[in-house]
Amino acid sequence: MRVFLSPPVMNGDLERRLVGEAFDSNYIAPCGPMVDLFEREAAERFGFRQTLATISGTMALELLARALEIQPGDKIIVSDLTFIGSVAAFVSLGAEPVFVDSDPATWCMDPQLLAEALQRYPQAKAVIVTDLYGQSCDIDALLTLCDAAGVKLSVDAAESVGATYRGRPSGKGAWAAIYSFNGNKIITTGGGGMLLSDDDALMAHCRKLASQAREPFPWYEHAYVGTHGRLGNIPAAIGVGQLRHLADALRDKAAVWQAWNERFASRPWIHPMPTADYGVPNRWLTVVTLEGVDPLKAVEALTARGIEARPLWKPMHLQPVFRACDAVLSGVDAALFRDGLCLPSGRNLTPETMDEVMACLDQLRAE
Ligand SMILES: Cc1ncc(COP(=O)(O)O)c(C=O)c1O
Repeated sequence: MRVFLSPPVMNGDLERRLVGEAFDSNYIAPCGPMVDLFEREAAERFGFRQTLATISGTMALELLARALEIQPGDKIIVSDLTFIGSVAAFVSLGAEPVFVDSDPATWCMDPQLLAEALQRYPQAKAVIVTDLYGQSCDIDALLTLCDAAGVKLSVDAAESVGATYRGRPSGKGAWAAIYSFNGNKIITTGGGGMLLSDDDALMAHCRKLASQAREPFPWYEHAYVGTHGRLGNIPAAIGVGQLRHLADALRDKAAVWQAWNERFASRPWIHPMPTADYGVPNRWLTVVTLEGVDPLKAVEALTARGIEARPLWKPMHLQPVFRACDAVLSGVDAALFRDGLCLPSGRNLTPETMDEVMACLDQLRAE
């Protein structure tokens, strides 16, 4: 059987039972008791005043972009080492992204480089920073800079659900955060996401935007244009079950990370992603850089064995679509992309598969 990077894990019969309850309620719709429950329990678990469950993390970002009233030509400052979903919605509305390189100690946006970007673009409409591979960005340092510049900071915490920063859930403290519950994330709704914020006005506006911006009239009245972005009651039922067992997922992911690191100890040419001292990552993926092994060859060799592995995100400044965009670079992201490898990190990954991966990398290193 193929070994996936991060397959979903259901908690016994729990999610099936909750989906059954959703069926029985006949809320087979983008609203219903499970959506309400999921949003309520997520608000409690992650300590945000408001949460809005969406059809994807990308949709949560789209709602933010719409709430910011992005106009063609607006500059936004974003992480360079990220998935395109971080910027796609903003760019679709005409924003011009400015990419900022990473701190080698965290692999997240480098605060010093953000300072430079804010100096270059004091009129930037927003800063969106990514928590990479489950590790929170240095949010307090970034917030200080954004507050001084009068720019709103949002965190793309799609990958860091359950991680903490100085004891706070990922994204907490920013103007807004988004989470992803895509099928490969630490907890999943099959496909889904969430917008989280303590700003009641923002969340009320986004809630309306996510329901086609319908005004409270008996007929369909619209003062502005929205979209259709709310999570369905059936996937929300899965989310409720997953959320209630997030602690188990975090425990299992930490164990996988630990088991990998035991194998790296005797291989000084494998360097795991550094752990920042300010927080606890969720260990969504175990990611390394390699010396003397081409990550693309490793991906090819592992794929031939039925084991999924991936290069790191290709930095946005290297993407053909963003060739004309400005960037504040230090070379960190380009080097990480050149040398980096995402290892299979499923909660049910076996020691045998880990040993097979290590044998494969040893062999490539010896060639
Ligand atoms: C950093 C980052 N941002 C945004 C997204 C988009 O989330 P979704 O797939 O739920 O739309 C993802 C991943 O899926 C991601 O890794």
